[in-house]
Amino acid sequence: MSPRFSPLIKRIAHDGSDPWALHWRARAAHAAGEDVIVLSVGDPDLDTPRAVVEKAVERLRAHDTHYTESGGRAPLREAIAAAHIERTGQPVTADNVIFLNGAQNGLFVSSLVVAAPGDEVITFDPMYATYPATLRASGATMVRVAAPASQGFHPDLDAFERAITARTRAVFLATPSNPSGAVLTEREVDRLATLAERHSLWIVSDEVYSGTAPEGRVPSLGARLPTHVLTVSSLSKTHAMTGWRCGWIIGPADFVAHADLLAQCMIYGLPGFIQEAALVAVGMRHEAEADVRAYCRARRDTFFGALDGLAAAQPLLPDAGMFMLLDVRASGLAAAEFVAGLYEAERVSVLDGAVFGRETAGFVRVCYATEETTLVEAARRIRRFCAGLKTPG
Ligand SMILES: Cc1ncc(COP(=O)(O)O)c(C=O)c1O
Repeated sequence: MSPRFSPLIKRIAHDGSDPWALHWRARAAHAAGEDVIVLSVGDPDLDTPRAVVEKAVERLRAHDTHYTESGGRAPLREAIAAAHIERTGQPVTADNVIFLNGAQNGLFVSSLVVAAPGDEVITFDPMYATYPATLRASGATMVRVAAPASQGFHPDLDAFERAITARTRAVFLATPSNPSGAVLTEREVDRLATLAERHSLWIVSDEVYSGTAPEGRVPSLGARLPTHVLTVSSLSKTHAMTGWRCGWIIGPADFVAHADLLAQCMIYGLPGFIQEAALVAVGMRHEAEADVRAYCRARRDTFFGALDGLAAAQPLLPDAGMFMLLDVRASGLAAAEFVAGLYEAERVSVLDGAVFGRETAGFVRVCYATEETTLVEAARRIRRFCAGLKTPG
């Protein structure tokens, strides 16, 4: 008899078929030189800033290739703390920062440090696709609260309040949201903070897209309730550094100390040359974020303009981020059929909204962080695909 696996593997398995299957097919076809447009992943087609690359190369040549302090070098944590103060007004120091392997690692560490079997963790539907497995990894039960299309994908905070039980330990959310781009308002942030304080809940606030919001800021949960909020962020989106895996959590010092123990047994320090490059990236955040913001805004408007008025795939204008939802409920196709049909007919790959939850069933998600000419061509193909449907509109 084979040795058995931990029950963990069931908790982190996909619910149904692999939602990324079409995306990987499209990527492979594109790499093989086929005329395929890949709009199914949030990876800006910009280059990492040159100064960041140069610093990594310089530090590699200087043999900065040995073990480093788990949790991140002090100057980097100090710089991240200073940037957070500037962005949110929340007073923090290096002791409130742990540097990790991307925001995804930050979400995973947060999940394991705050939740356990028997607990409930609330999250807003639609949510970033890794959340279910990340939350269930702790053994906790994930509880969905709707952020419905009818409310512009803002969370229903009355339903949130009703969903809180004696077992609720935390709420995980993203502002700006992926997939909807919705940014929590000041009032929503105030209400969430009030409820979290009243019920002793952790709030894990995933702010990886905050640099793409107007002026690079979103209303800050951390500034409202520093004792209960873990702010997760990274350089992936704001500096076109998805492959560098540079992210962090900002939270109370005792949380950071526990997270550091977990990081010691999971990562045991991140590469020094990457950390030194990350320090340069944090130092040039104003220019880098301004560039990404202008880039995302221009592409969002181009793509929206090119699809505006299309009944079978109605575009929804997002507040921030790099994604747009298209409402395909009037197309006569289920979103999964729309995605498969669009790829077969026009070689444009987008994602079925169902990947992100129940509230985005009937929607598809498009990443618009790509060249203008590609976006215009993708919109042309989407229009042509819709025109060929039996019941467009
Ligand atoms: C909402 C959200 N959180 C976290 C991540 C992961 O970011 P990172 O590359 O820093 O791990 C992503 C990536 O797409 C995301 O969309």
